[in-house]
Order: sequence, then C-alpha cells, then structure tokens
Amino acid sequence: MSGSLVRHTDSVEATGRLGAAFAIELRVGDVVALRGDLGAGKTRFVAGMVHAFDPHARVRSPSFTLVNEYLLATPIFHLDLYRLERSSETDSLGLEEYASRGALIVEWGERLPASWLAEALMIAITSGEGDQRTFHASAFGGRGKELLEAWRALPEAP
Ligand SMILES: Nc1ncnc2c1ncn2[C@@H]1O[C@H](COP(=O)(O)OP(=O)(O)O)[C@@H](O)[C@H]1O
Ligand SMILES: [Mg+2]
Repeated sequence: MSGSLVRHTDSVEATGRLGAAFAIELRVGDVVALRGDLGAGKTRFVAGMVHAFDPHARVRSPSFTLVNEYLLATPIFHLDLYRLERSSETDSLGLEEYASRGALIVEWGERLPASWLAEALMIAITSGEGDQRTFHASAFGGRGKELLEAWRALPEAP
C-alpha cells in the first residue's frame, strides 16, 4: 500500500480537480458516500467529478430533487439524503435502477441503508481554517478497497 488516505485542498478549484481526478475511476454500480457538515464541499467535489466528463455541465445540489442524473461516459447519479428522515425512505428512491445504469455519488451518504454501504468508498470531508478542506477516504468491501487504491494513487495535488 502506498499513498495517503487523506487529501487536502485549499480552494474550490482544488476540490474540483480532486473530484475530477478521482471520477475517471468510476464504473457502473459504484457507490461513493460523501459525509461532512453543510458547506464542507460535498457538492463542489461532485461538480468536479461531473466536470471530468462534461466541463460545461451545470451541477446543482440535489438537496430538493434528491437525485440529479448526468448522462456521462459513466453516468453519475448525484444524490443528497439530507432531507431523509429514516434510511428506509431510500426504498422509494429506486437506487437499484440507478446503480444498474451508473455510479451513485451520495451526499449524507452515511444515511444509506447498510446494504448500500457494503461495497462503497466513504469520503469524509472536514473544514479547516478558511478554504482548507480535508478529505479522508475509507473502504467498505472489495470494490471499496479497489476505489481506495485508486484514491491513494491520485497525485498529491491534482
Ligand atoms: N477547499 C474548498 N473546497 C470546496 N468548497 C470550498 C472550499 N473552500 C471554500 N469552499 C466553499 O464551501 C462551500 C461548499 O459548499 P458545498 O459544496 O455546497 O458544500 P456541501 O455540499 O458539503 O454542503 C462553498 O460555498 C465553497 O465556495
Ligand atoms: Mg451539498
């Protein structure tokens, strides 16, 4: 094992580049859970992911729509579970169908039912001083481990 589980950014742009560098690893069926307080940078990170494939895409927070779909080389389903009261409510979201067609990138991803976190990468984002952000990745299951290795292999400052 080499490389760090932790990455630091000091601007929105750097967070976007980190998301973009990682996004090219995504495959249909992948689950990436993002956790962190409001304003941590979850949505900006996802915007970077989408922009890796479509630099002109307009990425907006799915906090009201619950899910935004981006039809990219690997389609991205961008979810935000902030408004979810109980994880059982995800039953009605149709995650199975999304996962059969693309990668699930989920803000407040720790609210996913455990079965959806069995094979996933969790990225916890914390805010430091000013524009400093720290991204800490951890793996669940075999695919999570593969994604974690891809994360470790990212350049120190993409
Ligand atoms: N390094 C950084 N990375 C991401 N966002 C940053 C950074 N520094 C400052 N910000 C600001 O933090 C906020 C992050 O917002 P957003 O991505 O919507 O957070 P979340 O989705 O986690 O609630 C934005 O207002 C952005 O301008
Ligand atoms: Mg958000």
